[in-house]
Amino acid sequence: MLKLIAVTNQKGGVGKTTTAVNLASLLAKSGKKTLLIDLDPQGNASTSYGLDKTLPGTYQALISPKGAKQLVQSLGSLDILSSNSDLAGFEVELVNYQAREYYLKNLVKELDYDLVIVDSPPSLGLLTINALSAATDILIPVQAEFFALEGLSQLLDTVGYVKKGLNQSLSLLGVVLTMYDSRLSLSQQVKIELETNLRGKLFKTVIPRNVRLAEAPSFAKPIVEYDRFSKGARLYKKLAKEVKERLYG
Ligand SMILES: Nc1ncnc2c1ncn2[C@@H]1O[C@H](COP(=O)(O)OP(=O)(O)O)[C@@H](O)[C@H]1O
Ligand SMILES: [Mg+2]
Repeated sequence: MLKLIAVTNQKGGVGKTTTAVNLASLLAKSGKKTLLIDLDPQGNASTSYGLDKTLPGTYQALISPKGAKQLVQSLGSLDILSSNSDLAGFEVELVNYQAREYYLKNLVKELDYDLVIVDSPPSLGLLTINALSAATDILIPVQAEFFALEGLSQLLDTVGYVKKGLNQSLSLLGVVLTMYDSRLSLSQQVKIELETNLRGKLFKTVIPRNVRLAEAPSFAKPIVEYDRFSKGARLYKKLAKEVKERLYG
């Protein structure tokens, strides 16, 4: 059965793209046929792999799903639908269309994957709603800062609405703390708060602030290829393991 993980948070700069890209690379190596969909008009996930952003990708695939297979690019074990600013038009163009929430779901039906990972844009607009309507699971990266908690409860409310109205099978895979600095007492406080409120839903793995993670995209590589001995690589591997356990038991 297809598993589709939406990596989502309406806040920008919390580690969505870094998490989506690195998890996709790692999970693709574990034998599941894996596709990464860049659903952000900024196209950061596509840039992280050094892809040519002038090529058609996610936007064209959403508009004509029958031809989507030809738009998928191969990165070895991982496939990707790349994105660029064309995708910004999607929300505006489809506002008056029926079933506009289900374009991504319809697209994925035309493709043949075991696992799809979606890198969402930083908003709760139509693209993110498409991601949540198509998803079996949502994974939420959260930065350890005070406002993160407010943003998270807003997002969890949205997940609740989507579950009721658009996608009953959506479930919260988990929340992962990113860019964690254990020297800061605020980081520790936020972690404790999340542990209390989310109980089992907070991933045990915490992603530390690690400069190698920030450097990797400029070398067009996921962290495990850029510097596999870095702290970032080690912790994303650990997170991938935890994600696999939660997905497949
Ligand atoms: N754990 C980390 N340590 C250091 N820098 C990080 C880490 N995770 C992400 N970054 C950097 O922080 C910025 C925002 O991360 P990104 O994954 O693009 O967030 P989002 O997709 O939520 O906007 C990027 O420049 C990224 O390279
Ligand atoms: Mg991003």
